[in-house]
Amino acid sequence: TLKDIQLLQIPVVEDRRGNLAFIQEDIVPFEFKRVYYLFDVPSNSFRGSHSHINQCEVLIALSGSFEVVLNDGIEKKSFLLNKPNIGLYIPTGIWRELENFSSGAVCLVLASDVYDEQDYIRDFNQFLGSKK
Ligand code: TYD
Repeated sequence: TLKDIQLLQIPVVEDRRGNLAFIQEDIVPFEFKRVYYLFDVPSNSFRGSHSHINQCEVLIALSGSFEVVLNDGIEKKSFLLNKPNIGLYIPTGIWRELENFSSGAVCLVLASDVYDEQDYIRDFNQFLGSKK
């Protein structure tokens, strides 16, 4: 449920030469097997619009900003991601919509398993049905 969502603080090494953030297994609540990222996203685009049956993910706004609207089938909560040192942990079984991408926004995703279309629910009514 939405109660299981977490904002993860990603450690940053600050330096006059530029900052360095690093993600290791100790700050992510699952073992990640895949990394993917969204970039060159038009500002009027909607991404996501699905839930996962087993996989969980962490989303990070590496650059720019975007909104993530999460729904557990009962309630909705919206997050503005705009910091490269904050990760949004989305547990399994949560519907997500990504929208309002700023220009230059990059959304990095850590996923708990390799890509598997069978793990997706892409129909909202089917998602609601899976919650009963
Ligand atoms: P899609 O799930 O629609 O993107 P999002 O929900 O994040 O907006 O994925 C777009 C296409 O990319 C779809 O055909 C599946 C494919 N895809 C992969 O091949 N591998 C991956 O790791 C991901 C996330 C998607």
